Amino acid sequence: MTTGLISIRHASQGDAADIARVHELAWRHSYQGLIPHLQLEQMMARRGPGWWQDALCKGMHALLLEFDGDVSGYVTFGRSRMRGTPYAGEIFELYIRPAEQGVGFGGRLFNAARTELSAHNLAGLCVWSLACNDRACVFYQRLGGRQISEGREIFGDQSLRKVAFAWR
Ligand SMILES: CC(C)(COP(=O)(O)OP(=O)(O)OC[C@H]1O[C@@H](n2cnc3c(N)ncnc32)[C@H](O)[C@@H]1OP(=O)(O)O)[C@@H](O)C(=O)NCCC(=O)NCCS
Repeated sequence: MTTGLISIRHASQGDAADIARVHELAWRHSYQGLIPHLQLEQMMARRGPGWWQDALCKGMHALLLEFDGDVSGYVTFGRSRMRGTPYAGEIFELYIRPAEQGVGFGGRLFNAARTELSAHNLAGLCVWSLACNDRACVFYQRLGGRQISEGREIFGDQSLRKVAFAWR
């Protein structure tokens, strides 16, 4: 999938360092002030290039969006953790580098992941987001997602609300 300088492709183990960089930039930008500092730093430290290399080696499905030869964002996806629902597919993570947010890259990666899930007979899709992550919640709503569930995520001594959006 290529449009001008923008392309989307499957990730391989050689992309681990680039994905780790996008992950760290996007997490810092999105979650600083939402997730307690210590837990955020620990989570980011755990998710270095080695973690990504291992996950990709074990078969994690990931697509990358490259802009002008650089990795600007990634999406990971697979079989939904919400068993027994009409949503067989799930997007686990979707992150765009802060400098490139808001120009359509997230929408492109979302649609590409959705197409991949359908191609693997995983119809219906869900995604979880922290409720306090306004940008992500607005993004999923604008893409037609319907809120179907909610839960809590524990970070140290803090419990944050999370919501699930879904598409048939
Ligand atoms: C959330 C995220 C993936 C969205 O990707 P993006 O590239 O910034 O979004 P896009 O430019 O593709 O926008 C797609 C739609 O959402 C809307 N949108 C995006 N950000 C928005 C905002 N802050 N406020 C209102 N609408 C917004 C866009 O207007 C667009 O809708 P439209 O096509 O109808 O105009 C991206 O901002 C990101 O990586 N954020 C940080 C990490 C994160 O929160 N990930 C999700 C965790 S579950």
